[in-house]
Amino acid sequence: MRVFVTGASGWIGSAVVPELIGEGHEVIGLARSDASAAALGAAGAKAQRGTIDDLDTLRDAAAASDGVIHLAFKHDIAFSGDFQGAADADRRAVETFGEALAGSGRPFVIASGTLGLAPGRVATERDGNGPDPAATPLIGGAATRRASAQMTLSFASRSVRSSVVRLPPTVHGEGDNGFMAALVGIARDTGVSGYIGDGSNRWPAVHRLDAAHLFRLALEKAPAGSVLHAIADEGVPIRAIAEVIGRHLDLPVVAISPADAGEHFGWLAGFLAVDSPASSSLTRELVGWHQTHTGLIDDLEKGHYFHNPSA
Ligand SMILES: NC(=O)c1ccc[n+]([C@@H]2O[C@H](COP(=O)([O-])OP(=O)(O)OC[C@H]3O[C@@H](n4cnc5c(N)ncnc54)[C@H](OP(=O)(O)O)[C@@H]3O)[C@@H](O)[C@H]2O)c1
Repeated sequence: MRVFVTGASGWIGSAVVPELIGEGHEVIGLARSDASAAALGAAGAKAQRGTIDDLDTLRDAAAASDGVIHLAFKHDIAFSGDFQGAADADRRAVETFGEALAGSGRPFVIASGTLGLAPGRVATERDGNGPDPAATPLIGGAATRRASAQMTLSFASRSVRSSVVRLPPTVHGEGDNGFMAALVGIARDTGVSGYIGDGSNRWPAVHRLDAAHLFRLALEKAPAGSVLHAIADEGVPIRAIAEVIGRHLDLPVVAISPADAGEHFGWLAGFLAVDSPASSSLTRELVGWHQTHTGLIDDLEKGHYFHNPSA
């Protein structure tokens, strides 16, 4: 297939590109800078210059493709105070892709998340697809992002083979600059490896290369309207994560009270407090995905998260 990929230069996208090319697909990646275009070229993909705000570019690229994988997200503005703006741009891009592919039967795959889907119990692919009083109430940009996932799925009724791949809060691996790296950085800065409360709350996890594999399977064979979970570890207690970090950095592992969590963990506190395990049984059955790379704790134990002092 000739696949148009947004966010192809990002953490997950840069694993999806070789996964696709390795199976004989042709990749055209959206690139907003010379550096991103060069990275795509080096990976064997073609670059389509533009941003996710260039809706005409997105429409034309989707129309000229056999399928679209949408991974771009304005994390730069989202994590500096304008999550709503980032989610609004994402919604416009999703709508543009869906409309461009309507009636074609072609695949359209987007990334979403599992965090907060069903707090306190193991979330499945069936959760989060309608009003659920138990779910974390969504407001602002988070609600917009959830609505964009629903919009993606709704394009199934207009002959788009749309699917949503939900990612856990940590998509780990060597070079990760996300939540795990932030947690390591906070431990370095504060001199303790902390967890909130008793640390028994759980996060699911997946290795970046396993996640990339699922995006390819979604593109190739997910039925229209599928929700897929890229979940390898169903739920790793945050305390277990803090213990590995403490051991590798030779720092004490300490409980932080919920009242002090905001001051200690900053923007990460709200995420880190959630008990949000998730499963992927239905995904495994539906598309035959399985984990082949290391789990979160073993990946942390490898040590690469601790080699870069600026991480
Ligand atoms: N990583 C995780 O643990 C995780 C967990 C849950 C959900 N997700 C979701 O999965 C998707 C991919 O995440 P990621 O971790 O790979 O993100 P990332 O590393 O931050 O990459 C973001 C990608 O989006 C591109 N991008 C950002 N703003 C853009 C713009 N205005 N126009 C065009 N491209 C733009 C970036 O291009 P440049 O390379 O040019 O900056 C990059 O390719 C996102 O939707 C993310 O929210 C990720």
